[in-house]
Order: sequence, then C-alpha cells, then structure tokens
Amino acid sequence: MPYDFSGQVVVITGSGGGLGRAHALAFARRGAMLVINDFGGTRDGGDSRQNTSQNMAEKVVREITDQGGRAIANAGNVTSEPDMQAMVDQAMSAFGRIDVLVNNAGILRDKTFVKMDLPDFRTVIEVHLIGSVIATRAVLPVMQQQEYGRIVMTTSSSGLYGNFGQSNYGAAKMGLVGLINTLKLELFKSGIRVNGLAPVAATRMTDDIMPPQMLELLSPESVSPAVLYLCGKQAPTGEIITAGAGTFAKAQIVESDGVFLGAEATPEMIAESWNDLADMTTAKPYKQGSDQSQKFVVNAFENKG
Ligand code: NAI
Repeated sequence: MPYDFSGQVVVITGSGGGLGRAHALAFARRGAMLVINDFGGTRDGGDSRQNTSQNMAEKVVREITDQGGRAIANAGNVTSEPDMQAMVDQAMSAFGRIDVLVNNAGILRDKTFVKMDLPDFRTVIEVHLIGSVIATRAVLPVMQQQEYGRIVMTTSSSGLYGNFGQSNYGAAKMGLVGLINTLKLELFKSGIRVNGLAPVAATRMTDDIMPPQMLELLSPESVSPAVLYLCGKQAPTGEIITAGAGTFAKAQIVESDGVFLGAEATPEMIAESWNDLADMTTAKPYKQGSDQSQKFVVNAFENKG
C-alpha cells in the first residue's frame, strides 16, 4: 500500500471531533499511531476546561483502539507553549518519534468587522495562527533530529477568497499561508515538508451556516485523503489542496507579468494600462518573494536608457 503509515506517529490538534477526528481515523486505518489533542469547549473557544476536553480526545482514542489501533489523548491548548511541549513529551515517551503534525484546532467568532471587538479578533488569530506556530515549534526539534517531518496547516477559503463576517478568521487562515510559504523554504533541507489544506465539511463549525442538503454531501471523511496525501513519504511542499464532497483541487497565488511604466509612472498611466497589467493569461506563481523583486529589477534594467 503506497500510503502506509505503519510505524509513523501522527499528532493532530483539535482532533476530538469534526475534521480532525476523521483525519485521525483515516491515519489509524493505515497503521499510524495517533496523538489525539483536543482542548474541548464550545465552537467559539469558550467553556473549555470544565467541559469534556479530555473526554473528547479520549472518545476518539477509544474509537481507534477499539478498531485495533494505537492512540493517546492529550487535552492541551494549542495557544499554550507548555501545553504543546507537554504534548510532544507525551508523544515521545509513548511512541518515541513524531512524523506528522496536522494543525487543525480552530474556533469561530463571526461578526462583521465594524461590530467585532478586538478581543474576538485577537482570540481567533491566537488559536488558528499562533496556535499553529506554537505546535509547529514544539514538534520541530524532533522532526529536525529525525530529518523527517510532514506538517499540514489548515487554511480556508475564507482566507484565500474572503467570507462575509469572518475578517478575523480569514486573516488568521491567510496568515497560515504566509507561514507555509516561508517554512517550505526553511525546512526543506531537514526533510520536512509543509503544506496547506483548505477543507469544506459538515462539522459543528458549519452546521448552522449551510443547508442540510449541502451538509449531507460534505462529510469530513471525504476531505481526509488530501491530508494523507500531503503527509505521505512523497509529499510535495508548499502546496495548498482544497477539498470537499469528493472534489480535490490546488489553490495558488499567482502574479501577472505586469507592465513596465518606468520611474515616472503616474496613476493615470496605471489606469490606462490596467487591462495589460491585470492580464492573468500568462500569470505565474513565484517560488519565493525575491523572484518577484528580480522581475522588477530585470524590467527596469532592460528598459533603461
Ligand atoms: P470543529 O469545531 O469540529 O473542530 C475544531 C476542534 O478544535 C474542536 O474539537 C475544538 O475543541 C478544538 N479546539 C479549539 N480550540 C482549541 C485549542 N485552543 N486547543 C486545542 N484544541 C482546540 O471544526 P472543524 O470544522 O472540524 O474544523 C477543523 C479545522 O478545519 C479548523 O481549523 C477550521 O477552521 C478548519 N476549516 C473547517 C471548515 C469546514 O467547512 N468545516 C472550512 C475551512 C476550514
């Protein structure tokens, strides 16, 4: 079986339900040993500790062990460095290595931007973006030592394309794309591949924002094959897969060739050139930001004098 995870250890944050649980079960069916992390709580991130946090993670652990798999539960909060370090220590003492980290934990606090309080903006950034940073920093020394690792960041169409009422969430999710873009460069030499997943699935996050007929098609299980693909031995790096209801696609940032208007360019010249400047028929992605700078300098040099 090409996507066999036997002997591999997979850590998934927020995997006590929804998409994380589906990913965990899919990895377990293919032989992986799982660390099921979930802080518990409500969809907006409230009410966590007194709730069923450990139970959520333990329930998924039981599902895996009942099917003959191996898994341990962790109730750490992704926004806490000590919690994430403790999760890594727990994984290392139970299984001795960490091959995969899926940053999946998340919350929602939707409101239009003008009505949103700063704490709600900050908290959503803190869980999705900083939480993924903290969990990634915690596993990195282990992956670097192994010279092997697969990391998935869970982004969203709300970040890639926008979604009414989700400025906090969209900003956090696009922040993760920026993180992927640099980590793919910095970690490649250590054998660590970093990719993104933009899922759509029927979970508690979406159960009141989509009609039941749509939700029926959007099982979390239909997304998980994308995560397994991104965590395989032959995984790409720096890619974003979008996935939902059985469709899988690639999302990418591209830039048009542009027009050279010179150092004396005016807004009027930009308005006149808009159709050429914004012609996306030959648009391309860049491997890194400096490739774009190079285009600017080459254009200026070629048009000099
Ligand atoms: P979910 O609410 O079922 O799962 C998120 C899990 O994260 C929950 O079990 C929650 O207890 C846990 N969690 C929240 N804060 C945590 C923290 N600080 N530390 C540890 N665990 C924490 O929702 P769903 O839909 O499964 O979401 C999974 C990921 O997929 C999220 O990152 C979400 O933003 C993303 N996503 C989901 C989409 C969808 O259509 N369901 C669309 C786009 C992205």
